[in-house]
Amino acid sequence: MTVRVWDGFIRGFHWLLLVAFAGLWYTGGDFMHVDRHEQLGTFLLALIISRIIWGFVGSESARFRYFIAGPKALFLYLRAPKSFQSHTHNPMGGWSVILMLALLLVQGVTGLFTDDAIFYRGPLAALASKDTLRTMTTIHSLNFDLLKIVIGLHTLAIVVYKFVGEPLVYAMIKGDKKADPATQPRIVHGAWGYLILAVVYGLLTLLFRAVPYIQAAL
Ligand code: HEM
Repeated sequence: MTVRVWDGFIRGFHWLLLVAFAGLWYTGGDFMHVDRHEQLGTFLLALIISRIIWGFVGSESARFRYFIAGPKALFLYLRAPKSFQSHTHNPMGGWSVILMLALLLVQGVTGLFTDDAIFYRGPLAALASKDTLRTMTTIHSLNFDLLKIVIGLHTLAIVVYKFVGEPLVYAMIKGDKKADPATQPRIVHGAWGYLILAVVYGLLTLLFRAVPYIQAAL
């Protein structure tokens, strides 16, 4: 018997995130594709903000309080990983999700305030001082190096789980895992998540358009 562990929004979020991240890596390289990088960056930021909102209002399995473990649970898991039973993230996995979301959020927010003094100014750069822009640009670059390491470890962990027989990727594609149906987490329809995503994306776009007015009012 199977249970639904990941709703449609979490699965779509994950694979869209992977595509957006790869695209941002490519478009932010030596020959920066400025417009594409900004469009993808806005989309990634909207994805992360909606995933954070979904962590409070979405399916039980997507909620932070469902998978963020306290120090005791983390210690017990590290002592005996095999004895831990969960449909979603184990205590280590839960914290690595928080770390990835936090680093991606920092990456998206600092991107709004970057200024390379040659080709590109982020969409909110006009609202910040020169010092702030310099700091944000440095963080944007250092944080990306950190993200590559953390996401590399994430992908490695998924491969290791595959070898120990945990079909995590299948669950992130299909949404289901083999388990007792009585343990089914409460699932919210993914369409609500996409609605949140559309609203967040729309609000970000409006904010960028309002920059000249905000600047004039300051
Ligand atoms: C081929 C590459 C990748 C594979 C196979 C993969 C696979 C997975 C799987 C199976 C999970 C669920 C883990 C679990 O059950 O505990 C997961 C979660 C996650 N992955 Fe990946 N991943 C990949 C790349 C990425 C990339 C590039 C990012 C970030 C840009 C990323 C960010 C995340 C996040 C944030 C979660 C948590 C999902 C949530 O709860 O919202 N992954 N990944």
